[in-house]
Amino acid sequence: EKSGYDHFMLKEIHEQPETVRRCITGRLNEADVHLDDVSLTAEQLEQYNKVYVVACGTAYNAGLVGKYAIENLARVPVEVDVASEFRYRDPIVDENTLVVVVSQSGETADTLAAVREAQDKGARVIGICNVVGSSIPREADDVIYIHAGPEIAVASTKAYIGMITVFYMLAIYFARKKDLLADEESKQLIKDMKALPDQIAGIIDNSEEKIKDLAAEYAQNENAFFIGRSVDNAVVQEGALKLKEISYIHAESYPAGELKHGTLALVEEGVPVIALATQPSVKEKTLSNVKEVKARGGVVTGVVFGGEEELEDLDYRFEIPETSEVLTSILSVVPLQLLAYYVAVERGCDVDQPRNLAKSVTVE
Ligand code: M6R
Repeated sequence: EKSGYDHFMLKEIHEQPETVRRCITGRLNEADVHLDDVSLTAEQLEQYNKVYVVACGTAYNAGLVGKYAIENLARVPVEVDVASEFRYRDPIVDENTLVVVVSQSGETADTLAAVREAQDKGARVIGICNVVGSSIPREADDVIYIHAGPEIAVASTKAYIGMITVFYMLAIYFARKKDLLADEESKQLIKDMKALPDQIAGIIDNSEEKIKDLAAEYAQNENAFFIGRSVDNAVVQEGALKLKEISYIHAESYPAGELKHGTLALVEEGVPVIALATQPSVKEKTLSNVKEVKARGGVVTGVVFGGEEELEDLDYRFEIPETSEVLTSILSVVPLQLLAYYVAVERGCDVDQPRNLAKSVTVE
């Protein structure tokens, strides 16, 4: 059932173009998003003064991307919280808060408890889930399914891509209902979203061999750092989690500007640093952080928009094709997933079943 791939994780990475295609099918027309599964009126949306996203692990990291998308397009503040914290900290949630919970399995104990906590406080809960008919979709007020199909590898890849695809659709949906997104702008975003499946396939095709070489070099290290700004900062959190979870390399991610407030002390000769610089508005800032890393001997891999020549500080670079600035996460995460995969293989790790971890965490 691995369809010729060595591991489920690699198969699932390669399925991602299809995941996005299935996720958007029937939900996008020329200028609008249709979410049959969510029935919010413009008045209800106006009433929400805050969105709370609650999840664990990779689903939490998807929520960080969701924050950027919703704040950027729908102009409502979004707080993202880890479910095991949310449920015990008497969160400030009421009927004017929209709570979005995210879970591939739909069975994560802390996330399910968060649904109940939010509903007890009077909030409406939307679930973004993969497994149809699982506990969270049954208890949430509305459900948006990712439709990624079964995800077997413990390390989540295609579910993450599906979750962020849903967040983008939700953000456009909110923005349109609130009259914040003009027709032309919305058409462009939707056109760009429809191009994503082929673009993901192109990234896999173009980068896989090069990533294998890079993995052989990075696999020798016990530490790695990931940096990014804006939505790139959300994506690097997922890149670091992926690497740590399956290769057992100690990986940390930081907002690029935070590096010199402490972590730069750990960068010395040969330390791998993966820098995402996909956001034109802050690219120069990230690249100046790359220079600081290079000056200490770090080996820097950049994930950047294609066709940019002035990036001579990068030791390795992976290019992502042109898309709307807000949508880049769906593309930029792909080289990070492949890197984690090939580093783990290089280190002889049990990629699909990492030590100490379970696919579905149904106890706290
Ligand atoms: O099923 P869920 O999405 O609720 O699972 C949440 C986390 O346990 C999960 O994402 C975990 O972090 C993965 N192993 C990450 O790859």
